Amino acid sequence: MGSIKKLRLGVNIDHVATVRNARGSAYPDPVRAALIAQEAGADGITAHLREDRRHIVDQDITSIIKAIDIPLNFEMAATDEMKKIALAHEPHAVCIVPEKREERTTEGGLDVVKDENKLAHFITPLREKGCRISIFIAADDKQIKAARRIGAQVVELHTGAYCDLHYDKRFEERDAELSRLKDMASLAHSLGLEVHAGHGLTYETVVPIAELPEVVELNIGHFLIGESMFTGLKDAIFKMRELMDKARL
Ligand code: PXP
Repeated sequence: MGSIKKLRLGVNIDHVATVRNARGSAYPDPVRAALIAQEAGADGITAHLREDRRHIVDQDITSIIKAIDIPLNFEMAATDEMKKIALAHEPHAVCIVPEKREERTTEGGLDVVKDENKLAHFITPLREKGCRISIFIAADDKQIKAARRIGAQVVELHTGAYCDLHYDKRFEERDAELSRLKDMASLAHSLGLEVHAGHGLTYETVVPIAELPEVVELNIGHFLIGESMFTGLKDAIFKMRELMDKARL
């Protein structure tokens, strides 16, 4: 079992932009959210520039990088358009995610096994620019081993299925998925990969994930932005952080 490191929190601010874009207005501003998250102790900001620009748009990436002092984790699909944008910005981290136009959010992890050669070539110039490459995958040993082979430094384990099963009250299946996440975090760590986790995490679901000793970073967005409507973003982040830190004790 790996040593217990402090768990970093990356705050995903995409859905501040979702609300802004719903009215085509200039507000609420994701840059302001990023600055509040930074003040509240976030270790990084995560933003996903989707092909259809449904939330974050190109100018947001430029403005966020300019405004924040903490690292940006730039989520993107493995397309030439996104690679060009990432190479122009050289963000601290690039997280490669699957993307389908019709999906509401990132459904499932990337199939690294299927596109192994293509992905290996795709990430090389990004790595050479010094970006930390993370691959968003399901808790599956074949995908983890393939992520290692293509030269990624990080895998982010998709916690969406675990969270959905929890809210569907399918507790046996949830626990089986949690057990997979646990085993796969351990496998990834043993292969020398840094392990992150994220998607769908809430106050109710975060603790068992934060307890996994190999996981060093969680990326959380939708719930925190939703909760911020009731408590403010700072308080929502404080509470999430408190739960994560307690789980780590
Ligand atoms: N990690 C990755 C790779 C993601 O694609 C997302 C969603 O953009 C998240 C974490 C955050 O998920 P959520 O918004 O459900 O907390």
